[in-house]
Amino acid sequence: MVEIDSNAPQLSILVLHGPNLNLLGLREPDIYGVSTLAQIDTQLIELGRSFNTAIESFQSNHEGSLVDKIHDARELHDGIVINAGAHTHTSIAIRDAISAVKIPTVEVHLSNIYKREEFRHHSYLAPIVIGQISGFGAHSYQLGLQALIVHLKSGIRF
Ligand code: DQA
Repeated sequence: MVEIDSNAPQLSILVLHGPNLNLLGLREPDIYGVSTLAQIDTQLIELGRSFNTAIESFQSNHEGSLVDKIHDARELHDGIVINAGAHTHTSIAIRDAISAVKIPTVEVHLSNIYKREEFRHHSYLAPIVIGQISGFGAHSYQLGLQALIVHLKSGIRF
């Protein structure tokens, strides 16, 4: 008889944080809030647990490390939540990596990038992700994670 552990995570999500997000809590708190990255990750792990979803979190200040992590996600994760930080506005490499692995991805930003300097209004990722959540502070990550889980469970792929 095969036993099914109903508490075993059904989904696995990779949460990627780009450059300077390791400084959350200290970094321009008027824009990014006072939550630290560790606090955000803890909230995501708890939220994931309530949806039977395992969360792996990774932060890097290096574009290539983020690209490597996206490649490695191929056999490991069902979806990606990414805040690429400033790479959002510059990185064709991260965009190409997400397109290459074809893993459903949600883009998140703490700040509302459209309310800010013009150079932040363009995202290289927006055209190839499922959707984007921007402007809800640390809550953007939680909204992004929930949206991704609902999307993955719906079975719809676009
Ligand atoms: C950010 C917005 C980016 O423009 C900025 O470079 C960041 C953080 C956000 O979460 O609001 O590093 O992605």
